[in-house]
Amino acid sequence: MFPKNQLDSIFVEEDQIPEEFKLSEEVHQREYLSNGEMHTWSGEVHEVLSPVCIRTETGLQRKLIGTYPLCSEKEADAALQAAVKAYDNGRGEWPTMSVADRIYCVEQFTHRIIEKKAVVVKLLMWEIGKSYADSLKEFDRTVEYIYATIDALKDLDRQSSKFSIEQGIVAQIRRSPLGVVLCMGPFNYPLNETFTTLIPALIMGNTLLFKPPKHGTLLHYPLLEAFRDCFPKGVVNTIYGRGNKIIPDLMKSGQVNVLTLIGSSKVANELKKLHPKVNRLRAILGLDAKNAAIITSKADVKLAVQETVLGALSFNGQRCTALKIIFIHSSLAEGFLEELSAEVAKLKIGMPWEQGVALTPLPEPHKPAYLKECIADALANGARVVNAHGGESCESFVYPAVVYPVDKNMKLYTEEQFGPVIPVVPFNDLEEPIQYLIDSTHGQQVSIFSNDDEEVAALIDPLVNQVSRVNINCQCQRGPDVFPFTGRKDSAEGTLSVVDALRSFSIRSLVATKLNDSNKHLINEIVDSNSSNFLSTKYLF
Ligand code: G3H
Repeated sequence: MFPKNQLDSIFVEEDQIPEEFKLSEEVHQREYLSNGEMHTWSGEVHEVLSPVCIRTETGLQRKLIGTYPLCSEKEADAALQAAVKAYDNGRGEWPTMSVADRIYCVEQFTHRIIEKKAVVVKLLMWEIGKSYADSLKEFDRTVEYIYATIDALKDLDRQSSKFSIEQGIVAQIRRSPLGVVLCMGPFNYPLNETFTTLIPALIMGNTLLFKPPKHGTLLHYPLLEAFRDCFPKGVVNTIYGRGNKIIPDLMKSGQVNVLTLIGSSKVANELKKLHPKVNRLRAILGLDAKNAAIITSKADVKLAVQETVLGALSFNGQRCTALKIIFIHSSLAEGFLEELSAEVAKLKIGMPWEQGVALTPLPEPHKPAYLKECIADALANGARVVNAHGGESCESFVYPAVVYPVDKNMKLYTEEQFGPVIPVVPFNDLEEPIQYLIDSTHGQQVSIFSNDDEEVAALIDPLVNQVSRVNINCQCQRGPDVFPFTGRKDSAEGTLSVVDALRSFSIRSLVATKLNDSNKHLINEIVDSNSSNFLSTKYLF
């Protein structure tokens, strides 16, 4: 019978794991990088249990893949002081280094991390249960992002190499760093999303305190030596430990200039409030989202089904950009639900190393129980699970549930489930989904499905002022990475794209003077002698 037997049988015994996907050994990290050195840690550690369970004589058990340090406020403060010292009020080696030299350091770092690709990808797969194919993609996308960032910075630098003359004033305008950046990434893209803030922050001349996500920590361990070797002492410092224990004091110190966090708006709000000088803190945040799909009566149902499956269930629905609520015109609901259930049934469930696997175990230990609670709440309020076996679970694995009809009395209507549950809401009037978006506390993206140009146009205009990206006849997504990625309301602060991120982690500074012979001579002398990294007309190619 499918549910118990098949769900249960996706997990294997230790010796059934293919050799090429096994970790050569458990990773017991006892080091962290701070102030240019790898420090040895002999205190408390956190056990990293994979979402992948192993069949043992005593039942299914999450596989232990290693441990990492649980440092205290003391080590976190030492890392902060190292970052403050390396920045040295903007006079440190890194913030005053030429753009060309900073780019060189980041290039060296990139070569070094590429050498670690195999182990990082495997750790990514084991730590968060992302399929091996998607883990590889995440690594490659990150490397591409770094190279695109370097190119974007060269462009920016070329544009800033010229002088502007206005009203008798000559000026050179460049972007300068902001100071110490506290960088925290999410578990669902622990490498990519961390690096899409960390790399721009770094390359713009800031110094860093980097706290890896709770799930997705060990995969950063093989990269620490590259950070140590490629950047001046104290420019990149790692902090390990329970966030709620070590982060508050860092914020209270007032020495963090930029908070960059991809995570929950609740955590971001609490942390921002702890900073004593709110005007000195810049926040670059990627937060909660509850992206809706609106499938109108004029939609191509087959296409809407395909995109809903991709949008709602890629990486088990654990994407901030995932489609987390589907509005379907009542006239199409029955056919849509039937086709959606059929497509969900085609998705391969299994272990992350299996070829073609689409649904895998979930890393957050509380998630199966939470999803069950959401589904039970919907059922108690009049909805049903439409697809066969929807919501059934086995340990860390949850089979996707299509839940219908969802309404405003249910948790699934407003809560970000961040997992494999697809709430479907019927509507008769387009005002209903528009009003949902107006009332929502989130404002990241929306997907409209319709082939009627007038209808699509009538939806675009109200919706672009509710969310930051309106997708037509396709799922929501962050990429291509050169496009702006942001959100309104509680979904984001600041904008990330290859170019925008460089701006987010910097501020414009200019050097200006009255245009007279004496100042012309002075400026020419400085430029000719290459004595300033800022006031310079050198071009980067
Ligand atoms: O978790 C949020 C990610 O930024 C989503 O990126 O849309 O490319 O999967 P993606």
